[in-house]
Amino acid sequence: MKSELKESGVISLSNAGKTAEFPIFKATHGPDVYDIRTLYKQTGAFTFDPGFTSTASCESKITFIDGDEGVLLYRGYPIDQLAENSDFIEVAYLLLNGELPKENELKEFEHSITMHTMVHEQLKNFYSGFRRDAHPMAIMVGVVGALSAFYHDSTDIADPKQRLIATHRMIAKMPTIAAMAYKYSIGQPFVFPKNDLDYTSNFMRMCFAVPAEDYDCNKVLCDALDKIFILHMDHEQNASTSTVRLAGSSGANPFACIAAGIASLWGPAHGGANEAALNMLEEIGSVERIPEFIERAKDKNDPFRLMGFGHRVYKNYDPRAKVMRTACHEVLDALGVRDEPLLQVAMELERIALEDDYFVEKKLYPNIDFYSGITLRALGFPTDMFTVLFALARTVGWIAQWSEMLEDPNQKIGRPRQIYTGAPKRDYIAIDGR
Ligand code: CMC
Repeated sequence: MKSELKESGVISLSNAGKTAEFPIFKATHGPDVYDIRTLYKQTGAFTFDPGFTSTASCESKITFIDGDEGVLLYRGYPIDQLAENSDFIEVAYLLLNGELPKENELKEFEHSITMHTMVHEQLKNFYSGFRRDAHPMAIMVGVVGALSAFYHDSTDIADPKQRLIATHRMIAKMPTIAAMAYKYSIGQPFVFPKNDLDYTSNFMRMCFAVPAEDYDCNKVLCDALDKIFILHMDHEQNASTSTVRLAGSSGANPFACIAAGIASLWGPAHGGANEAALNMLEEIGSVERIPEFIERAKDKNDPFRLMGFGHRVYKNYDPRAKVMRTACHEVLDALGVRDEPLLQVAMELERIALEDDYFVEKKLYPNIDFYSGITLRALGFPTDMFTVLFALARTVGWIAQWSEMLEDPNQKIGRPRQIYTGAPKRDYIAIDGR
């Protein structure tokens, strides 16, 4: 990656009669950034920023979020335009390469992904080592981490060709590995990939086909899942992406880095929120009970929060939630379950919350997870598979960010500092003197 960091000014910091100066960088979009790389050298001090709320950890050209305006761009393109007009494979190419593919580039890329969808036959043995009731994310962490033991010819990160093969392998094999995790949990035989199907239809088939019957992919359902995948593909330097970058900064192989990302995504504050939103809608149960839950969400003494509402970055309607809402309606229409009670509760809850002063003042809008749980359940996925689907899609973002990091001339091993507040230096005391 060619660095585009250009100094647009200088900021100075004075303390105890000494002044230090730091360059200011301008972003294409988003706030200015103070380059404090020489802070310690110039001042002998560190900065303190738990959760990195004010820290840009890297330069990136992949994704941009404007939380106040409710905008999400992949390589400059608005997410709603991509979800409406593109498909998973084309968006994957865009995220990896920076530009939308020409026809021949798309064909070549799609062919390469299709040719890598099968997994090593011995990888199957890993599954039988897990309990049948293992959480599929536990299986994903284990199996994806194990890939580096199978594909030795694509773990040399210094070789661009090997990096490219690893990239295609990861994107191609995630649906196969995820579908196998699901099949294992329900005691059904694994279904092999089928090369004449597109990426998402192939995944649906590997999840829901059985050897005893033919499987017809319902186009509306497959298209809806494809959209859901597009919405989840990348989201700037979130926890799991930062984990992938941090793991990769030490030179770890890509399969190990993605396994680390999956582990980070698993947490309820990150990938697990759609499950929580669905559980909440079920708990509310009927439209009549909504006011009671709205009051609880507003009560400072009640820990209850409206799940699927609010976001650390979006202080406006999450642009992904708008697309998700439409996809949800399309899926329920296609399945003929428009009067699904959970959808009625969700729509009414959204209407009331968007008019309520508490939610308006705090800028709490529905996020992507508000409608995704209902949609994924309608598609036939059990709740513990929701985060797996997220991981499948986010793999493209993780691997694009990992590649970008390796090509970044400013890349260094990630090594944050700390403010130590423990015991001062002291001498060892023998056990009889304590
Ligand atoms: N229901 C009721 N009140 C809320 C909610 C909510 N969902 N979210 C925030 N608030 C209130 C909160 O109590 C606080 O009030 P006050 O200022 O009076 O103390 C104020 O709004 C600001 O909230 P915060 O927790 O300081 O904001 P944050 O940026 O740290 O948290 C959040 C963001 C997503 C963790 C939070 O909004 C939340 O817990 N939402 C519900 C869980 C959820 O849907 N998570 C999925 C996020 S999208 C997933 C992704 O992008 O990966």
